[in-house]
Amino acid sequence: MTLLEKFYPTLKPWLFRLDAERAHTLTVKMMVIAHRVGLLQSVVSAPQKPRNVMGLTFPNALGLAAGMDKSASAVDAWSALGFGFVEVGTLTPRPQPGNPKPRLFRLPENEALINRMGFNNPGIHAAVKKLKRRRTKAVVGVNIGKNFDTPNEKAVDDYLHCLKAAYSVADYIAVNISSPNTKGLRDLQAESAVRELIFALKKEQASLQKEHGKTVPLLVKIAPDLNDMQIEALARVFNEQNIDGVIATNTTIDREAVTGHRLANETGGLSGAPVRERSNLVLQAFRMLLKEQIPLIGVGGILNGADAAEKMKLGAALVQVYSGLVYRGPGLVREVLAATAQAG
Ligand SMILES: Cc1cc2nc3c(=O)[nH]c(=O)nc-3n(C[C@H](O)[C@H](O)[C@H](O)COP(=O)(O)O)c2cc1C
Repeated sequence: MTLLEKFYPTLKPWLFRLDAERAHTLTVKMMVIAHRVGLLQSVVSAPQKPRNVMGLTFPNALGLAAGMDKSASAVDAWSALGFGFVEVGTLTPRPQPGNPKPRLFRLPENEALINRMGFNNPGIHAAVKKLKRRRTKAVVGVNIGKNFDTPNEKAVDDYLHCLKAAYSVADYIAVNISSPNTKGLRDLQAESAVRELIFALKKEQASLQKEHGKTVPLLVKIAPDLNDMQIEALARVFNEQNIDGVIATNTTIDREAVTGHRLANETGGLSGAPVRERSNLVLQAFRMLLKEQIPLIGVGGILNGADAAEKMKLGAALVQVYSGLVYRGPGLVREVLAATAQAG
């Protein structure tokens, strides 16, 4: 057990007394320092079952979901904590500050978070610089998006810009068209828009592949708030365009699961336990509709090992966590590693 894991139950009440975003910034800083002085390493004792997915070897099935390390500032530390892969970002072509604070809220009664961060990030080029210096062997995904002031008609250019900038340092690229906090972003999930976007990105991927002599898989991250027709349309496009993988899901704008909570009406995406059921339904639907060779990464509402094992049973090849880490701390990593090593 790492020291951080041992002390998280003591640390948690202190962190929860701070504003959620401040606590997050502080925790990541503490982790980087803890890693530098060698306090994170002992998780290697947790079971490791490597997975071969999309031509990549993942040391284990657990990844850090996008948004936790938007600037790629702690990749080596996350890996030392036990994550087999780390998805950094979302990153946009130009740096941007995101929405005004407060923009992150805890709903402890529901083991949930609401966020409207709005892609606060240092820009793709700053993140690429950091990723060049990483030491870890963990798989690194780069999650890309568009700047808030780029109109949707020009969105393809933003994604192409990020793909080109990140290709040499990324193990995979995740195309985020599902954040609820960038106006109009989810409209890119409409059939014609997503077809145009993926066609352009796939074409660029093929030319970058020749230039760099390596294949970097292209995944799309989708929302949980999709009806059956939208799911079918997206699956059709993914099959047609041979997308390399799908990440299901982002946060939800639905508030039914937290009705009556004093923070329920805060604008933004809801994550954690309340999104689990909807995420799982979407995951299951895509597993049925997608060609067998297109893998799924399951994310949304993993709060313990059993939640992770369930996603794998529903067809996820890999899983990711965000909110669960806030509520359960690093102990969740060990638990998910044990549960997923047995699954699949
Ligand atoms: C504060 C916060 C920021 C997030 N930022 C991003 C982001 O920048 N890009 C992205 O694709 N997903 C982002 N997400 C969504 C998570 O990656 C994940 O899909 C979602 O939270 C569901 O997983 P969870 O229930 O384990 O938190 C964010 C989530 C939270 C809570």
